[in-house]
Amino acid sequence: MNQAWDALKDHHAAVEGRPILDLFDGGDRAAMFTAQADGMILDFAKTNIDERGLGLLLQLAEAAGLADKRAAMFDGARINETEGRAVLHTALRNMDKPLVVDGQDVTIALRDTHARMTAFADDVRTGRFTGQGGQITDVVNIGIGGSDLGPAMAVLALAPFHDGPRVHFISNVDGAHAADTLRGLNPETTLVIVASKTFTTIETMTNAETVRAWMAARVANPAAQFAAVSTAAEKTSAFGIASERVFGFEDWVGGRYSMWGPIGLSLMLAVGPKGFDAFLRGGAAMDAHFRCTPFAQNLPVLLALVGLWHNQICGYATRAVLPYDQRLSRLPAYLQQLEMESNGKRVAMDGSDLPYHSGPVVWGEPGTNGQHAFYQLIHQGTRVVPCEFLVARRGHEPDLAHQHLLLVSNCLAQSEALLRGRSLAEATEIMEKKGLTGAELDRQARHRVFPGNRPSITLAYDQLTPFVLGQIIALYEHRVFVEGVILGINSYDQWGVELGKELALALQPMLEGKRDTSGKDGSTQHLVAWARG
Ligand code: F6P
Repeated sequence: MNQAWDALKDHHAAVEGRPILDLFDGGDRAAMFTAQADGMILDFAKTNIDERGLGLLLQLAEAAGLADKRAAMFDGARINETEGRAVLHTALRNMDKPLVVDGQDVTIALRDTHARMTAFADDVRTGRFTGQGGQITDVVNIGIGGSDLGPAMAVLALAPFHDGPRVHFISNVDGAHAADTLRGLNPETTLVIVASKTFTTIETMTNAETVRAWMAARVANPAAQFAAVSTAAEKTSAFGIASERVFGFEDWVGGRYSMWGPIGLSLMLAVGPKGFDAFLRGGAAMDAHFRCTPFAQNLPVLLALVGLWHNQICGYATRAVLPYDQRLSRLPAYLQQLEMESNGKRVAMDGSDLPYHSGPVVWGEPGTNGQHAFYQLIHQGTRVVPCEFLVARRGHEPDLAHQHLLLVSNCLAQSEALLRGRSLAEATEIMEKKGLTGAELDRQARHRVFPGNRPSITLAYDQLTPFVLGQIIALYEHRVFVEGVILGINSYDQWGVELGKELALALQPMLEGKRDTSGKDGSTQHLVAWARG
């Protein structure tokens, strides 16, 4: 394993700084460095990875035992070793094939829950299940992190497929989020889903109480308009939610991997069970591709290897996700949790310090908006930011096809500009034509130089449908898995979120004036005093 890392570092030292553009001379680099899966293509030709580099990266995957570890995950081995759990979100989208774990076919319960979700969604959407003022017009999903980001991202992404009630999301414990979301909603025709794997998350439980009180002011029996999605059945019943509207799942579905099951109920209500099932089929298609395709043509493996090349080998600390697809505007936020909560670790599975950096900082915004905001830094800043473009061949607005063309041309132009740049000679020529001469010409030309040689990849698909969204999300999930395996970390725990939660609980009575702040650092004491006015 170390040998594979060392060989990659040596290779990087030898090729660092060479023009990526030169790699296109001779041979069909574009074809060689593009892979496809069920109509989706991943073009990583605009990176400094050459045949030798790719070969070494593939060796890294082999040396990490990726094939065996992939099998272990799909088969339900307890690969989440720090929590002693299997990692089986893939079973949620492959329910038709039996999967025996600890002597039991886990898909039986999954199919049962899926059938109950489907029946409930149908009842709500057709008016068989009503609120106390008539047919459900609005659904409010209360959850945070993995119980919010996935469905919120997907509901937005699949807007053209909405044919059910309007779906809203409350996540932040900031009362502003509940207040702004509830304003204008009719409690008598609103269904509330409390989505929490643990049913203990303070933000979600606080918002659930708030929304129940809002409903109680207008509705005789608020609990009748509440549903719950959780692994903690006893807690949902203690909250007063009838068991027929509680949709459970197992602890081997991680929060940030949970939108394929009951956590996706809000999405199912928005797009209907058929649309939701198409989303599951897209995920299953990517699973099949990931399981069966040789590493050299395997999208999740390649995506992960490109990521490792840029972060751990080249040392680029961040990665920009740039969907040229407005409806994917929440994808970067979703990926922040998926990637950073999964692979933002500092020790290996055995507890030893990691000898290299773990996952990068993931950020982004949709194009073309980002072009008018932060692309300046991407093109001319001193740090290299590898960019990931996502783009559809077709939009959903046939009468606005000319706008889609403009969108695609901008996407392609950005990756071209990053690759090609603009030399000092080119910039000088442009400024000469504007009449500049001498020192002023030189000064102005230097401001207009684009260094170029900045890597990007493009993920391209025909159209953003439920199936394609399923492919995209499963692709990123498996990328995280592959990166985690190669780095030797546990991608499925999240101990790093615990300390802040504990300290917040301890600070609450101090802010209420019920406890003094002795033992706190000076800054925190000062801020508590400020907050108390
Ligand atoms: O605090 C982090 C976290 O545990 C995430 O991993 C999870 O998705 C989120 O909180 C919400 O947790 P729950 O679904 O249990 O409310």
